Amino acid sequence: MIRLFSLFLTLSCFSILTAMSAPGDRHIAIETRRTALVIRVDKDQNPTIVHLGQRLTRPDEYARIPGNSKRGEDYTGLYNSVYTPAGSRNLLEPAIQVTHADGNPSLDLRYVRHESKSAGDGVVLTTVYLKDPQYPFDVTLYYKTYQDDDVIEQWSTIRHTEKKNVTLHKYASANLYIPAQNYYLTHFHGDWAREMNPSEVPLTEGLKVLDTKLGTRADLFQPPSFLVALNQPAQEDQGEVLAGTLAWSGNYQIAFEVDPLHNLRLMAGINPYASAYTLAPGKEFTTPAFLFTYSATGKGTASRSLHRWARKFRIPQGQGNRLTLLNNWEATYFDFNEEKLTALFKDGRKLGVDLFLLDDGWFGNKYPRNDDRAGLGDWQENVKKLPHGLGYLVNQAESTGIKFGIWLEPEMVSPKSELYEKHPDWVLKLPNRQEYYFRNQLVLDLSNPKVQDFVYGIVDDMMTKNPTLGYIKWDCNAVIYNAFSATNPNPSHLYVEYVQGLYTVLDRLRVKYPKLPMMLCSGGGGRVDYGALRYFTEFWPSDNTDGLERIFIQWNYSNFFPAIATCNHVTDWGKQPIKFRTDVAMMGKLGYDIVVSKLDEKELQFSQEALKTYERVKEVIWQGDLYRLASPYSGDVASLMYVSEARDRAIWFTYLTSSRYRAGSQAPIRLKGLDPAKNYTIRELNVYPGTKSFINDTSTTFSGNYLMTVGFNPNADANRTSVVLEVTEAK
Ligand code: GLA
Repeated sequence: MIRLFSLFLTLSCFSILTAMSAPGDRHIAIETRRTALVIRVDKDQNPTIVHLGQRLTRPDEYARIPGNSKRGEDYTGLYNSVYTPAGSRNLLEPAIQVTHADGNPSLDLRYVRHESKSAGDGVVLTTVYLKDPQYPFDVTLYYKTYQDDDVIEQWSTIRHTEKKNVTLHKYASANLYIPAQNYYLTHFHGDWAREMNPSEVPLTEGLKVLDTKLGTRADLFQPPSFLVALNQPAQEDQGEVLAGTLAWSGNYQIAFEVDPLHNLRLMAGINPYASAYTLAPGKEFTTPAFLFTYSATGKGTASRSLHRWARKFRIPQGQGNRLTLLNNWEATYFDFNEEKLTALFKDGRKLGVDLFLLDDGWFGNKYPRNDDRAGLGDWQENVKKLPHGLGYLVNQAESTGIKFGIWLEPEMVSPKSELYEKHPDWVLKLPNRQEYYFRNQLVLDLSNPKVQDFVYGIVDDMMTKNPTLGYIKWDCNAVIYNAFSATNPNPSHLYVEYVQGLYTVLDRLRVKYPKLPMMLCSGGGGRVDYGALRYFTEFWPSDNTDGLERIFIQWNYSNFFPAIATCNHVTDWGKQPIKFRTDVAMMGKLGYDIVVSKLDEKELQFSQEALKTYERVKEVIWQGDLYRLASPYSGDVASLMYVSEARDRAIWFTYLTSSRYRAGSQAPIRLKGLDPAKNYTIRELNVYPGTKSFINDTSTTFSGNYLMTVGFNPNADANRTSVVLEVTEAK
């Protein structure tokens, strides 16, 4: 009893000591224009997070912030650790868990030093060095702050010089700590053709984990992107919100833990599942980056920050051009030949797109790709369908006046393929087990450098033979079943080294082909993350292109990803008229996957004019700020607008999303993001041939103040199910 009491005294003294700033404590303020993440280092060199939120105007006041918003005892002093080590005194979810060379399963991490330096225009890199006081084991934390965009990119490196290998059981990218009264997590889930369904749930004491174990098509059920709203559920323009996403295209784990003090701990990184990592002395392991932005003015600000950051710093040519295209997947599926394709080139030209994209089915000879059961891996033109080869098609398209692009699925192999016959050891499969197939296919072992060379060679050979090839759609239709590599000496490195291998290939390709437009596709949106989007100019959000469904899918992706990277195609999915489907597809990178020859005269005329309009307004949609005005989840209409940086132009989309009696935009919708002092005219775009718009009086002007205070009714209803308006400064 006495021993217990003295233990309690010791623990509570300890927690009181660590709970407030003492003289001599140091503060590392990692700041953007509006946000601060503050690390406190106490006299024992324990590094803890004492603030994540709005930047304070007086930096000296960071020292006043209480230790961990103490609402009870922190027995360990670690609840708010900058990178919680497992094994000694930790009681909660760790960020890192290791077994040392001598078998000791614990880690302690103390502050050594830190430095901050410029990492380019408006970018600051703060590096915090930590080490174990007993073992030659170091962790370095990196915080890259994008000043103007309020985005923080965080990752860590792990290194040791012990006598033998160390096993890393868990190795997170980031560990954050946020005190609030309540926490509301919005996470997204789905499956093929129903990506990005949001669920907002209050976080209560204990753990909530978002993760994937799917390997390749990792985000099929759940992407690594989320919102956490503090104190109240997330709102568009008010309240504190943290938007986070892990830049990793493989297995991830994001753990949210409301600790015994009712503060929120967050650990994000590679999924430790089946991924113990053996780290040799002197080698360094670098985690992927976790990206986040904190907003004190709702999720609207958070998404605009991420969009701006992505365009400027992450997505290739994020501020450049994109090509409109006609894809043949839904028009022909596997059934095509040169004649059909050349006719489609002409259709593309007639429609007015920049490029024709040839989809799946063009390759394989011994095992022709006439359905999805054969041929993956045999990337030679099928001589029956394409006797004159790809070069001929590239030339034919170009002489028709459009560019030519192609579909590839380079990471995959069909059991019925010459590749499988030649290199069975390049395929992920288990000894003594039947092969399990996902979409009738297997995954190549990208942890094997020979396979990396092969995959690189597929694209490189094609580009070398056809230097004007204008576009690649890089697909990935299978998850990793049979997770075993015949050649990897460390079986539990497979999931990690697969993604590293993929990035190695993409790095090499980007060095040689920095400007090639590439679409990231994974059986729809199975791989949408900022790890892959370092290499791809755009992504395919879903195979579901039904106009109504798309409003919801695009709405949810727009929390994290900018319009310029979001490929939206007009197809025959859904029952909405072509105007509706086109209007929806315009909120991003517009494309088509339709049989142009089946369009009637008006549909064709409408589409041709829409493409011309798009050419004129795309800059505002791609580079402008997105404001979500009316949510399809809470009313009859969805309404969104993109506003140019100079606030002199905006493109405003409104859709009817309900079919109930008298459903429509009953009242004016308040605009956002305009300049209250400017005057604007409003004009309707994409008016269907043969109909008239009453919103075309450009002699009437409205002040930005009026439009944002009272609003304007686009009159979306059953007769006008989608309305696109152009708002222009009247000069
Ligand atoms: C995936 C893609 C589709 C199409 C098919 C081809 O499902 O998402 O767009 O390319 O593969 O097999």
